[in-house]
Amino acid sequence: MRFNTEILILSIVSLLFKVVTAFVHPIGIHGRYFIDSVTREPFFIRGVDYQPGGSSSVSEIEDPLSDPTICARDIVLFQELGINTIRVYSINPDLNHDICMTMLASAGIYLVLDVNSPLPNQHLNRYEPWTTYNNNYLEHVFKVVEQFTAYNNTLGFFAGNEIVNDKKSANNSPAFIKKLVSDMKTYISIHCNRFVPVGYSAADDLDFRISLSKYLECSDGSVNDAIDFYGVNSYQWCGEQTFYTSGYDTLVRDYEEYIRPVFFSEYGCNQITPRLFEEVATIYSNDMIGVFSGGLVYEFTQEPNNYGLVDVDKNGNVKLLADFDHLKTQYATVEYPTGKKILDLHNRNGRSKKRLGSQSIPVCEPEYESLDVSKQVEESIGVRLIRTGVDVQLGKYVTLYEEELYSQYNITNSDGSPFSGSRKVKIINPIDEISEYESLRLNQLQSNCKFYKNKTRNQ
Ligand SMILES: *[C@@H]1O[C@H](CO)[C@@H](O)[C@H](O)[C@H]1NC(C)=O
Ligand SMILES: *[C@@H]1O[C@H](CO)[C@@H](O)[C@H](O)[C@H]1NC(C)=O
Ligand SMILES: *[C@@H]1O[C@H](CO)[C@@H](O)[C@H](O)[C@H]1NC(C)=O
Repeated sequence: MRFNTEILILSIVSLLFKVVTAFVHPIGIHGRYFIDSVTREPFFIRGVDYQPGGSSSVSEIEDPLSDPTICARDIVLFQELGINTIRVYSINPDLNHDICMTMLASAGIYLVLDVNSPLPNQHLNRYEPWTTYNNNYLEHVFKVVEQFTAYNNTLGFFAGNEIVNDKKSANNSPAFIKKLVSDMKTYISIHCNRFVPVGYSAADDLDFRISLSKYLECSDGSVNDAIDFYGVNSYQWCGEQTFYTSGYDTLVRDYEEYIRPVFFSEYGCNQITPRLFEEVATIYSNDMIGVFSGGLVYEFTQEPNNYGLVDVDKNGNVKLLADFDHLKTQYATVEYPTGKKILDLHNRNGRSKKRLGSQSIPVCEPEYESLDVSKQVEESIGVRLIRTGVDVQLGKYVTLYEEELYSQYNITNSDGSPFSGSRKVKIINPIDEISEYESLRLNQLQSNCKFYKNKTRNQ
């Protein structure tokens, strides 16, 4: 009896404290800028790379966005840091990500997601990509894509990370990256979801800096094979530098003509520690905002390679590191670019309005320096899968409960004192509970989608 009463009270409490789901503005692309598709303001990425546990953290049973208590713990700290985006390197699309994605969305945080994982059949072999570009691989990729396009706070997908990173990979993999981008974009365009941009995250190797970005930017005209954004992993600003001594000036010059958004998909050299992150001020300054759309610091948790902002112990309790404080200060100090500021900048530099907006996609050249783009990828791979679709649970925002929003773990400041900030995820998005009508409509949309697939599958 007592037990039942407790359950009753608990459920009443849960009802009372039901937190409604968020209305999240999808981010789109206009020329070389990300823009908020509702306010039309430019969106500058200010974030961190997030893969607690490193590459082994994705498995049959877990991944970085599958455990709501860990998400609550870390989103509290993302808000303390003042970020608007995270990048996750690997997830398992057979798991449910609804609570973590709703929590991120409610906290005003977007996700850039890599579609690959270290597990078998879930990534390209950079030296012999033809051995791995097959239906099993594409099925994984399409599952990730279809599940996550359903969340408005998915900002984009990375088709690959540093696949080209030496001479041998440059000789073998570029055409496969191009084909993957094309297959992903085709899949997104026909499978019941909104447009979500597809990009690539590049190792900043001078041999390929320009050629690879140009090759991925172009289209051969027959298919949708041009990337929508370009990420650069750059570790060249170490310790005290300036726009010029760091070589950022050259980076800006090299991407000046790029027609799509470019941003740092990883930055934060750790040769000199603690890191002060003085590059943040430069990244969001007039020197860079005409070309770079912000960036992501590598990386949130401390792993053996020593790039962490926080240290997580074996019980899941967190200690902030000095780097966390420094990055927080930098992110809090910098002034973020507005649409007006960008316009003024372009006018002042005498750049045409055209460069600000959309430009036509360049036609691919027959050759690119240091890359072999002539490898043939068998055209038929993926065709059937793209037509029939894959079986995956679509993502959806869910109702969050008050108690889910609290960090269950202990947090310690970098000086050893107990964490003084908020331990609760702050809901900052305008809130809009999905009405009964809306959820009926959503269900209908999803079942139409399945019906469509069943139909085509039986043909
Ligand atoms: C997602 O974005 C679309 C388009 O702006 C909007 O109509 C819809 O309400 C959004 N959904 C949520 C749950 O935020
Ligand atoms: C947090 O710290 C308190 C007091 O030291 C301890 O009792 C509790 O078990 C800790 N929580 C976790 C999740 O380790
Ligand atoms: C689609 O097919 C699956 C299994 O093949 C079945 O469970 C489901 O009910 C079908 N959906 C519709 C709408 O026909």
